[in-house]
Amino acid sequence: MVDLSVTIAGIRFKNPVLTASGTFGYGVEFAPLLDLNALGGICTKGLSYRPLEGNPPPRIVETHGGMINSIGLQNIGVEAFVRDVLPQLRQYDTRIIANVFGFNRDEYLDVIRVLNDADGVDAYELNISCPNVSSGGMEFGNDPGEAARLTEACKRLAHRPVFVKLSPNAPDIGDVAVAVEKAGADAVSVTNTILGMSVDIYTRRPRLATVMGGVSGPAIKPIALRMVFQVARRVAIPVIGIGGIATAEDALEFLIAGATAIQVGTANYYDPLASIKIIDGLNRYCKQRSLDSILPLIGSIELPTNLRNAEGCQQPDVAS
Ligand SMILES: Cc1cc2nc3c(=O)[nH]c(=O)nc-3n(C[C@H](O)[C@H](O)[C@H](O)COP(=O)(O)O)c2cc1C
Repeated sequence: MVDLSVTIAGIRFKNPVLTASGTFGYGVEFAPLLDLNALGGICTKGLSYRPLEGNPPPRIVETHGGMINSIGLQNIGVEAFVRDVLPQLRQYDTRIIANVFGFNRDEYLDVIRVLNDADGVDAYELNISCPNVSSGGMEFGNDPGEAARLTEACKRLAHRPVFVKLSPNAPDIGDVAVAVEKAGADAVSVTNTILGMSVDIYTRRPRLATVMGGVSGPAIKPIALRMVFQVARRVAIPVIGIGGIATAEDALEFLIAGATAIQVGTANYYDPLASIKIIDGLNRYCKQRSLDSILPLIGSIELPTNLRNAEGCQQPDVAS
C-alpha cells in the first residue's frame, strides 16, 4: 500500500491531487460522476462577497491544447455557498479549499470573515491572479508589494491557512512568491491562466466578448511547470502546481519539479475522471519503484551540476 499523503500548513491531504478552482463547480456537481472521497481536496469556484453574474457571452472558446475563458468570476456569493453548498460538501472525506476573490482588499476580508464562521473549510486560496476582471485580482497578482499587503491583511484575519494563487502574467512570478511568503502565506498555488485571445477570421471579431481571456489546459503545461520549478527554488513554503495537468505523468513532472501537491483544471471538462486516473497512476508509479510514500519524489529533480545551486535557474543559452 503506497502512502500518497502530503501535508501542507499542517493539513494532511490523503493524496496530492486536488481539483482546480472554477473547473469543478463547487464540487458537489461532480458527485454523480466520481467518488469525491478519493480526492486529496477540492478547490471551490472563486467566492466573492456578493453574487456575481460574470462577463457577457461568449466567454469560452476552444484553442489548441486547451481553452480560453473569460467567465469573470461568476459565483453565488460566499453566504449562499456557506448556507447551501458547504453542508453538502462537508459529507465527503476530502479537504475543502475555499477560493477567495474580491475587487478590493476589504472585499477579500469580507469573504474570509464569513468563511471563518463556517465549519468544513480547511484552507483559503486567495485568487490574486484572475485575468478576467477589469480591476482587483490582476493588480494584486502582478505587483509583489500589493500582493504582500493583501496577504498580510488576510492572514491577520483568517482562522485557517492561507494559500496564495499567483499570476503567470506577473513580470517575475518568483518575486511575488517571495513577497507573499514574507507576508505570511502558508503555500503558493502556481499558476492561474495566461492571458490570451482568439480571432474569428470570417467576422474579424474577437471570439470572446471581453476580447482577451485566460488560456488553460495542456497548452500551458510547460510554462506552468517552469514557473513551479522557479518558485519552488525561491520559497520554503509548499508550492501547489497547476496548469495543463491531465495525466499521472503530468502530475509527476510537477511533483519532481518541486510541487507538494497539484490541481487538475481544464482536464475535468473533457474527462471528469482525470483526477481519479491521476491518483491511480501515482499509486502505480510508486509501486513499480517500490516506493511506499510519494514524499521522496517531491522536488527530486536531477539538475546538471553547474545549475544545482542556481536560485531560480539561469536562463539557458539556447539558440532560437
Ligand atoms: C472556466 C474556468 C474558470 C476558472 N475560475 C477560476 C476561479 O474562479 N478562481 C481561480 O483562482 N482560478 C480559476 N480558474 C483557473 C484554474 O483554477 C487553473 O488555475 C487554470 O485553469 C490552469 O489550470 P488548467 O490548465 O489545469 O486548467 C478557472 C479556469 C477556468 C478554465
